[in-house]
Amino acid sequence: MNKAYFHKPLLNEKAFRKLSEFIISNFGINISDNKKELLEFRLNKRLIALNFSSFDQYVDYLFSEKGIQQEPALMINEVSTNKTDFFREPMHFKVLVDTILPEISGSYKSGILPIWSAGCSSGEEAYSLAMCLQNYRTTHGGPDYHIFGSDISGTVLTKAVKAIYLMNDSIAINQDNLKRFFLRSKNNLSTEIRVARELRDKVSFDYLNLMDKEYKTSHTYPVIFCRNTLFYFDKNNRSEIVRKLISRLKPGGYLFISHTESLINMNQGLKLVFPSVYKKADGKQ
Ligand SMILES: C[S@@+](CC[C@H](N)C(=O)[O-])C[C@H]1O[C@@H](n2cnc3c(N)ncnc32)[C@H](O)[C@@H]1O
Repeated sequence: MNKAYFHKPLLNEKAFRKLSEFIISNFGINISDNKKELLEFRLNKRLIALNFSSFDQYVDYLFSEKGIQQEPALMINEVSTNKTDFFREPMHFKVLVDTILPEISGSYKSGILPIWSAGCSSGEEAYSLAMCLQNYRTTHGGPDYHIFGSDISGTVLTKAVKAIYLMNDSIAINQDNLKRFFLRSKNNLSTEIRVARELRDKVSFDYLNLMDKEYKTSHTYPVIFCRNTLFYFDKNNRSEIVRKLISRLKPGGYLFISHTESLINMNQGLKLVFPSVYKKADGKQ
């Protein structure tokens, strides 16, 4: 029988240090001492999957030739916190539609307006953006668009690509959007809904670690959403990430962070224009 089921292995201090140092240096996720039990709880699933009975065994495996190739991606699925919702912090979507799209749309009349959802989790933010852009297209003749969602967790990216959610997840989606952009299962008992192809075709997802030295995105963006993600990082990493995000913003472009986050003391040429919405200088006087 699997030994790991007999007793729950405890995360000792030495293993905790090694794991938390590995996680912060590779993924930027800051695991303070008071999160030790949470890390123990979350990584227990990995010990069971690997049939290990102690965290020392897990650490040895992680740093082995095979482990270092395979384990970080699986570990991060357990360690990252992926809470998200459709139209989370709804004021941001109102600002986008009422103020920012009318300002920037003209520049994309004959092209594609790209928006980046960085730290997109399971895709709800990216699809909420797509609903706004698609509606704007219909009502105002707005431009064609593409939403790029990125994350480090393979589990959430797979869910985002599948685009299948539960009816309960749709509370913040208004009835018009729900009717227009979601498919119901033919099985009347099913509570699943799926984003319609019309939107899925406009959204793509990929792995991108915000700790990467530079962001190899295919565009510079007029709008980047990076919400409820900066809180993971310590001050230095946060400031570096903001610098790299700004480097992928067009002059005059907008960076959205969460209402619970702040860029205070990170004056990097951004101006606060709405609550938690920053504008990059456009180089004009
Ligand atoms: C709490 S969710 C936020 C989702 C969405 N932006 C929202 O506001 O609802 C934060 C996401 O950031 C991702 N994340 C954490 N560290 C990251 C990193 N180093 N690079 C990219 N994404 C990361 C997590 O996997 C998680 O899915």
